[in-house]
Amino acid sequence: MEKQKYIALVTGATGGLGTHICKRLSDDGYVVCANYRSRDKAEAWQAQMRSEGYEFHLYQADVSDYDAVGAMVEAIHNDHGAVDVLVNNAGITRDGAFKKMSRDNWDAVIGANLTSVFNCCRHVINPMLDRSYGRIINISSVNGQRAQFGQVNYAAAKAGMHGITKTLAIETASKGITVNTISPGYVATDMVMAVAPEVRNKIIEGIPVGRMGGTEEIAHLVSFLTSPHSAFITGANYAINGGQHVY
Ligand code: CAA
Repeated sequence: MEKQKYIALVTGATGGLGTHICKRLSDDGYVVCANYRSRDKAEAWQAQMRSEGYEFHLYQADVSDYDAVGAMVEAIHNDHGAVDVLVNNAGITRDGAFKKMSRDNWDAVIGANLTSVFNCCRHVINPMLDRSYGRIINISSVNGQRAQFGQVNYAAAKAGMHGITKTLAIETASKGITVNTISPGYVATDMVMAVAPEVRNKIIEGIPVGRMGGTEEIAHLVSFLTSPHSAFITGANYAINGGQHVY
């Protein structure tokens, strides 16, 4: 297999997790298309990546916007070819006790974390079916598997994401496409570091491994699941949380 020609699209690429996923897929030989929302941050990120020897192709789209995602996927198709690997990594938090949660904070999180998965999968799936090959990875969360105070919106989106994984997996299994979920625990990204230190430290105390995860540890699992050799793994949900939630 000539891996150099394989195209990977990573959403939310400029974040902590996205950056390491892009690097790892590039190390694996993929042409990496890096989706972003904010141009200033993305251009600085691309320059930083270049200085580290990585060449990523930037594509702007708000992933909660169906038509914007369609335009992005079409542009990638014209520039590089069809998407072989889709990593739905983009996500936001709007934490707060449910009794105070605004409709805006519900809509924002469902749009960015769940509707985005529909949008991206929907726009890449038919070309994958046509070519009888594809790898889709949905980056969910330990907080989609268990409960976390203040995250009704996030937990609903992240649990829903695995609902998409399971059904899309069986709809596409006979066509060389695999669809899997990764549910990371607490990883030292900006998103997690935004949690108040006293709350965060208490959460870390509950992780049996005794520390937060590393972004490169999540990227390693993405690499494993995107491999052509992982063809028999589909519809699965991989917990990677240092033992914080075992079931
Ligand atoms: N457990 C039980 N009760 C709690 C609580 C908790 N953890 N936190 C707050 N409360 C109580 C308060 O005492 C208060 O009670 P009263 O109404 O009786 O006074 C009530 O709940 C409301 O408290 P707040 O006004 O402080 O609530 P808030 O709306 O400001 O929200 C919070 C609090 C910001 C959500 C805080 O609990 C928090 O930061 N929790 C952590 C959330 C978290 O882990 N987010 C992860 C982000 S990273 C991520 O999501 C990545 C990933 O995938 C892992």
